[in-house]
Amino acid sequence: MSRKIESVNYGLEKIFEGAQDFLPLLGTDYVELYVGNAKQAAHFYKTAFGFQSLAYKGLETGSRDTVSYVLKQDKIRLVLTSPLNSEQEINKHVVKHGDGVKVVALWVEDARSAYEETTKRGAKSYLEPTVEKDENGEVVKAGIYTYGETVHMFIERKNFNGAFLPGYVKWESDYNPEPVGLKYIDHMVGNVGWNEMNIWVKWYEDVMGFVNFLSFDDKQIHTEYSALMSKVMSNGNGRIKFPINEPAEGKKRSQIEEYLDFYEGPGVQHIAMATDDIIKAVTDLRSRGIEFLSTPPDEYYNAIPGRLEEFSHELREDLKRLKGLGIMVDADEEGYLLQIFTKPLQDRPTMFFEIIQRMGAKGFGAGNFKALFESIEREQELRGTL
Ligand code: FE2
Repeated sequence: MSRKIESVNYGLEKIFEGAQDFLPLLGTDYVELYVGNAKQAAHFYKTAFGFQSLAYKGLETGSRDTVSYVLKQDKIRLVLTSPLNSEQEINKHVVKHGDGVKVVALWVEDARSAYEETTKRGAKSYLEPTVEKDENGEVVKAGIYTYGETVHMFIERKNFNGAFLPGYVKWESDYNPEPVGLKYIDHMVGNVGWNEMNIWVKWYEDVMGFVNFLSFDDKQIHTEYSALMSKVMSNGNGRIKFPINEPAEGKKRSQIEEYLDFYEGPGVQHIAMATDDIIKAVTDLRSRGIEFLSTPPDEYYNAIPGRLEEFSHELREDLKRLKGLGIMVDADEEGYLLQIFTKPLQDRPTMFFEIIQRMGAKGFGAGNFKALFESIEREQELRGTL
């Protein structure tokens, strides 16, 4: 593993000066998953991850074909949607991909302009600008396709003050497990096919005005058996970060290939959720039954003090506790970060969550990639997919 990667993490502000502002993004609005059974999935995300009930749309609200449960934790909104009959389009998505992310919705000032600017730069339309209204006001929605069948929806909500979107009712539940302290989406990673990473990097540059601010090649991200390449795309204000991975040749099948095989195409690989107390969050998540990738070996933890010293940072957390919980540490010039990855969250070995706490570092844990991938390979071995 090259230690030079971290030094690529130069001042972001300088890089963002080059970003174009034809698509100003205020933040992530919501992430929508198409799932086989939204009611049960909602129970899982509430119980295990501490999401709160926010809004609902289904038979009771006049939605005859689909049902959606909206969950919230601080700034993170998850929407879980299932079809209510066999005619519904969503069935095809679920049959093909299993449970997975369909929509990465972006909060904008002007959805019409976002749609116009991106489609004129080559984006494939998913939904033309559409106004939805109810007694709480109106929302303008528009959507474009990104990799695979994944969609970016632009959401303009300045004239709306309801629970979520028009058509949804507030979901009052008697069952409200405590949040675990997840605050916002730090980044969302997409897996794309062989030799497609640069196509999608260019797409995010040309169509969305994003910039590529970090790159890792297969010489940097590899284990004895497998390799991948990754480029991190960011919008102009740095609020939206989408790393994009593609598989690279190795002795055995990489985790990206495993994902592409089981998702049957490109899609969202993981959602990284930020917390400011990862020790508490991971302690809670473990006690609620969330399984994480196996803890790296002793040598990994023994090397951490040296790695922090290299950049003159002091670890504020107790290393023994981090090790006990399997939390990994990485450092760069600006600080360090703490992170951990769940096992896949549905039957297919596809999407998972990352829990991340940034202590100044702006990277993505490149120093942990090797330990992380070796851990994933142990799981692949068990699944017979390495
Ligand atoms: Fe990540």
